[in-house]
Amino acid sequence: MSGQQDRKFVVQAGGQLTGSFRVAGDKSISHRSIMLGSLAEGVTEISGFLDGEDALATLAAFRAMGVKIEGPVDGKVTVHGVGMHGLMAPENDLYVGNSGTSIRLLSGLLAGQSFDVIMSGDKSLSGRPMRRVTDPLALMGAQIDTTDGKPPLTIHGGHKLAAINYDLPMASAQVKSCLLLAGMYAEGTTCVTEPAPTRDHTERMLQGMGYPVNVQGNRISIKGGGKLTATSIDVPGDISSATFFMVGAAIAPGSDITLQHVGVNPTRIGVINILREMGADISLSNEAVTGGEPVADIRVRYAPLKGIDIPEDQVPLAIDEFPAIFIAAACAQGRTVLTGAEELRVKESDRIQVMADGLQALGIDAQPTTDGMIIEGGVIGSGEVDSHGDHRIAMSFAMAALQAGGAIQINDCANVATSFPNFVELANNSGLQIDAFDV
Ligand code: S3P
Repeated sequence: MSGQQDRKFVVQAGGQLTGSFRVAGDKSISHRSIMLGSLAEGVTEISGFLDGEDALATLAAFRAMGVKIEGPVDGKVTVHGVGMHGLMAPENDLYVGNSGTSIRLLSGLLAGQSFDVIMSGDKSLSGRPMRRVTDPLALMGAQIDTTDGKPPLTIHGGHKLAAINYDLPMASAQVKSCLLLAGMYAEGTTCVTEPAPTRDHTERMLQGMGYPVNVQGNRISIKGGGKLTATSIDVPGDISSATFFMVGAAIAPGSDITLQHVGVNPTRIGVINILREMGADISLSNEAVTGGEPVADIRVRYAPLKGIDIPEDQVPLAIDEFPAIFIAAACAQGRTVLTGAEELRVKESDRIQVMADGLQALGIDAQPTTDGMIIEGGVIGSGEVDSHGDHRIAMSFAMAALQAGGAIQINDCANVATSFPNFVELANNSGLQIDAFDV
């Protein structure tokens, strides 16, 4: 849970989504803009920054390590880079709340510093696996203590890092990025091989700031000892946040929405591919490239959906979108089967179990499996669900109300503020009826 209080949503049944607007800034790119901007030489100007708790946790961590950062004001942040070796020891432990991206990427970056740091997080983060980063970092010579493989982490600075060749055991952009950031401080060339493509924002931003990264197929390498040059960074809307509205419009007859200036990096558009295969009417316009990242306006108009077998190659490209995709599946005609998605069990919550429980509470036949779910499309009923403090589960069930037979109450919603602070406002402006209560 974030902050002192918890929240619950009560969402009235029915309605449709209309309008044209911009969703919150991309979380992954916001984190990376602070991290790389801080290590750059010069002043990085960021616009479109996500003013949400996760990105702010990264921002606070770098401020605590002596980086002067102004903002965010209206999505604008100015980072006065200190160079690759300019960070200073923080006075206190770094608390990064709910943010897996902060703790995992920072582990790599901090392993190369000269000082010690302790990083901790909230209840959800404290239950998430960290050996996936600390094991390969140890191979590079880093010294990091975990708490039974989980946070808090103690990173002991002052150890020389050596490059490694590493085959990632799972498709994870956080692990890949962690090793690339450590690789900047290592002697030699660090090579990371991915089992499947994952989001490549780190690689793109490193290159945009003048740090060479070699990408050959699924093998990414970086040579230590380089430097970053400050630049301006335009953070697009987060396709993961746009997803809730895409799914809402796809399931509610009469809907027609346009989400402006959304990041449509090919490593992030699994949700578009999957929803289209289910029959959704999605079109892209105003396609452009900004700061090395493709963007577009995404228009979604209601069209009937059908159940599908979700192609496994789309799983890493839609990894954060499955809670919402499960809602689309519940509203589709026929059966949807997801396999190859065991990673969902170690996200902000166990997204397979928590979504299956919620769907069942609303009368949908949803059977969890070890690596996915089998959902029979049906009629969503009224009821109460628990998001287990998982922002994306809360927002997904809010959209389910568009097609529900009665109101849906969603508990434990405070963490919506981690990735999408103005979700309720945008949802209510576009046709949902959400009342949010502090409890
Ligand atoms: C992220 C990578 C993904 C994703 C997370 C953000 C990133 O995690 O789920 O929300 O910014 O690199 P994994 O690397 O664990 O798949």
